[in-house]
Amino acid sequence: MQNALNEPQTIVLLGGTSEIGRAIVDELISSTTQTVILACHHPDGAQPERFAREGLDVVVEYFDAADTESHDGFVRDLAKAHGDIDVAVVAFGVLGSQAEFDADPHAAAQAVHINYTGAVSASLAIAGQMRRQGHGQIAVLSSVAGERGRASNFVYGSSKAGLDTFAQGLGDALADSGVRVTVIRPGFVHSRMTQGLKSAPFATTPRVVAELAVAGMRKGRHTVWTPGILRYVFMVLRHVPRPVFRRLPLG
Ligand SMILES: NC(=O)c1ccc[n+]([C@@H]2O[C@H](COP(=O)([O-])OP(=O)(O)OC[C@H]3O[C@@H](n4cnc5c(N)ncnc54)[C@H](OP(=O)(O)O)[C@@H]3O)[C@@H](O)[C@H]2O)c1
Repeated sequence: MQNALNEPQTIVLLGGTSEIGRAIVDELISSTTQTVILACHHPDGAQPERFAREGLDVVVEYFDAADTESHDGFVRDLAKAHGDIDVAVVAFGVLGSQAEFDADPHAAAQAVHINYTGAVSASLAIAGQMRRQGHGQIAVLSSVAGERGRASNFVYGSSKAGLDTFAQGLGDALADSGVRVTVIRPGFVHSRMTQGLKSAPFATTPRVVAELAVAGMRKGRHTVWTPGILRYVFMVLRHVPRPVFRRLPLG
């Protein structure tokens, strides 16, 4: 159960090696936190010792976002082993490259399956558990890439658009259940995912995303833009005519 300051006892990170996800977990951990579960596709890279502190149990579990059939059982097993889940961060995702997707439609479908179908299934499994508990908070990593389709990354962007719409609806569906959903909408973040790519305007770091995300989660916000100015940038960009939009240097 989260305490009066909205500090969780048990945190689950789906995408346990995600740089943004781990920064959010770091920011969420307080003296109240007893268990952190890193749900990883490659558990060997989990480095649970990075979170080590007195009284904190850091658990690493194998989790495949693409294996949607396993998700409900996975979450039920977590709850059986560790009790109520106070916060779940849905942070897994793949960026891929548009050129790769153009050449290999199957690779595009796989990326969409992880980013969208996998996130839908995992979030619904977590939501089901939190409904049974009567409390909890889910943070979903969306992206500004989902705000408008761009030639340079429309497969990734469309998967995030789907996920963002799903997470908004899930939050509304859970509004009277004691479970809250926060959609985190970062712009370009310097992380493993974007290594070697040209930076974009208003680029930021996992640490800044985490600080803004957790501040928003503690205030019960349904959406957190990181950085906040992107909310206003996209208010304008959403209405720019397509022939102009496609010539903008957005990366
Ligand atoms: N970086 C950015 O600029 C940016 C901007 C907006 C939104 N986002 C979103 O923020 C989230 C975190 O991104 P990040 O920057 O922290 O990237 P990251 O460090 O590359 O993390 C991505 C995570 O996804 C996991 N993953 C990939 N395929 C998986 C699968 N089949 N099953 C389970 N986990 C899987 C990876 O695990 P393995 O390494 O074990 O495969 C890794 O933990 C993603 O959803 C991303 O789309 C990122």
